[in-house]
Amino acid sequence: MIKAVRGTRDLLPPDTALWNFVEAAVRDVFRAYNFQEIRTPIFEETALFARGVGEDTDIVAKEMYTWEDRSRAASEKGQSLTLRPENTAGVVRAYIERKLWDRGLNKLYYIGPQFRRERPQKGRFRQFYQIGAEVIGPPASGSESPARDAEVLEMLATLLDRLGITDWNLELNSVGSSKERVKFNEALRIALEPVKDKMCVDCQRRAVTNPLRVLDCKVPEDQPIIETLPRIVDFLEEDSGKHFDEVQNILTKVGVPFTLNTRLVRGLDYYTRTAFEFTHGALGAQNAILGGGRYDGLSEALGGPAAPGIGFAIGEDRLVLSLQEKASAESVMSKPAVYIAPMAGMNGDAAQLARQLRRHDLVVELGDDSFRLKKSFEAATKVGAKYILIVGENEVKADAFALKNLGTGEQASVPRGELAAKIRAN
Ligand code: HAM
Repeated sequence: MIKAVRGTRDLLPPDTALWNFVEAAVRDVFRAYNFQEIRTPIFEETALFARGVGEDTDIVAKEMYTWEDRSRAASEKGQSLTLRPENTAGVVRAYIERKLWDRGLNKLYYIGPQFRRERPQKGRFRQFYQIGAEVIGPPASGSESPARDAEVLEMLATLLDRLGITDWNLELNSVGSSKERVKFNEALRIALEPVKDKMCVDCQRRAVTNPLRVLDCKVPEDQPIIETLPRIVDFLEEDSGKHFDEVQNILTKVGVPFTLNTRLVRGLDYYTRTAFEFTHGALGAQNAILGGGRYDGLSEALGGPAAPGIGFAIGEDRLVLSLQEKASAESVMSKPAVYIAPMAGMNGDAAQLARQLRRHDLVVELGDDSFRLKKSFEAATKVGAKYILIVGENEVKADAFALKNLGTGEQASVPRGELAAKIRAN
């Protein structure tokens, strides 16, 4: 038997109702903050991620689905392609390619699948979904302002609260400008030199290739050593320090609580200055419900003009998981208002009636005239219909139909013209 690929899964009803509920709520919030939707391709040239996300990040080094796409004609050249592991690089590629700087400050959001070859576990999949947003534009559009960072963070707090996820924790850090990071990386390299041999193999490698990544290590035995390493906040110069202070000031002013976490470095190389994660207790080991930050140099790294930006991506799978602790999918699933039960030979009249009622925006489930009445009642109950409507020859002649409330048992004969109003009424 052919099964779904490891790390992928089918989303089925009633769960899909919860996914739709989340996406509808999120789109409402984006609308209130004047964000517009962008959709980029789910595969791109491999070089985009190598340059954008960074060659020696876990994502690029071990987790990408990459293939050699052969040419199909002499006019077409073969190339290395990759299923997107994240969407920020794609958005910035589109910004450059489609000259989005002409629009000033772009406030864009996306909802869609991403792909990483990680070890599957609770809250971690190989095809997963992100709800993300990017604020990006030329420096003159105000894209670099700490006001943008604070607005994005406040929007996220609003969004989670709106969905009824209240026990979140915002962890905030500044990873500095690229210049400040060079100095910090050097200081880390020096501090790691005498101790790195006592650390895990990954850290021994990182200590040489990308010392910043050591701060991300989760191995318990390494933690006492990591605690003694230099802190990036001590390497921030005046501009970055002020920028970070202002982000915090605005957050305090608007009442969004946060925790400073000087070890938060994130797993992608493009970050500068503000970096953040929202965590949620119910998620266990994979407790980051979303992550993001500034990427002021990404456009230039991809060959574009200066275009500071800030954004985030919510793990939608994890968001739904933490919602499931509270709301059941059933509670947001729409149920049919009425089940239409045709008697023998009455499929056509039943279909006509269904068409009329659906025009009134009612959710209608249409039965089949091969069903005995008892079976129709069972089917109506199974789909959770509120009413059952019987369509027989006598009803059609009288142009009035037997309508029974499946909850109360109440039954009445209702003229065709009054059916929609009656069904909607209660
Ligand atoms: P990221 O931290 O790699 O950031 O991913 C964001 C979120 O996606 C994570 O916090 C997590 O909830 C979810 N996620 C990541 N990997 C998986 C997985 N294998 N299974 C389930 N959920 C997962 C980014 O992707 C950046 N592009 C965010 C960003 C946008 N930064 C600036 N703009």
